Amino acid sequence: MPSSKIGHTIKNRESPKDVFLTPEPLAIRHIEIVSKIYEENKYDGIWLDPCKGTGNYYNNFPDIEKDWCEIADNKDFYKYDKNISTIIGNPPYSHLKTFIQKIIELKPDIISLLLSNLSVTHRKLSDMEQAGYIVTNLEVCKVFSWYSESNIITWEKKTRPEQVSILQFNMTIYRTPEDEKSRKEKSKNNKRKCGICKKIGHDRRKCPEK
Ligand SMILES: C[S@@+](CC[C@H](N)C(=O)[O-])C[C@H]1O[C@@H](n2cnc3c(N)ncnc32)[C@H](O)[C@@H]1O
Repeated sequence: MPSSKIGHTIKNRESPKDVFLTPEPLAIRHIEIVSKIYEENKYDGIWLDPCKGTGNYYNNFPDIEKDWCEIADNKDFYKYDKNISTIIGNPPYSHLKTFIQKIIELKPDIISLLLSNLSVTHRKLSDMEQAGYIVTNLEVCKVFSWYSESNIITWEKKTRPEQVSILQFNMTIYRTPEDEKSRKEKSKNNKRKCGICKKIGHDRRKCPEK
């Protein structure tokens, strides 16, 4: 099944509960990465797990001020409005785009998420860059039963012009000769779309509904 179809199937499944609990050793590894960045760059302030689940992240946070949200416990992340320095966790897949928008609104210094490979898209990388965040760490990992590999991806707010992202992305959509062929056929067919009934294959002069 193509990856876009798998993503669509997951997003639209009947009960999009999004409860994919992170194995605790992976959450601990993720926290280790973020702790190092937090300490080395002398950040200060609250750590937030925006979607705690059973607490595999939150319960292993370092001994600093911390907070959590979890919709199943009536703490909706979309209503969160405190000042925080660090957001870390494994966000819900079915509304990832709006979830990330909400994360950006809170303007943390560090955003570090466990994301499926399929979720690290041009669009998300570009949205983050436009919001003033650069990728400063990326670790690819694998959970046995999850469909694709995952990324522990960490962004930091860009504060100096010389800071650059470690991850480059290229917005060009490349096409194979087969892609080009089907594009040409599609546009040929589109040209023949009838102005009256909108069906393809004839123009308005020959439309049976004329
Ligand atoms: C992929 S699971 C991860 C759970 C946990 N962070 C972990 O890694 O084990 C996503 C979690 O997001 C929660 N969630 C979904 N929408 C939410 C919201 N609006 N506010 C807070 N939590 C939400 C789900 O209930 C689920 O527990």
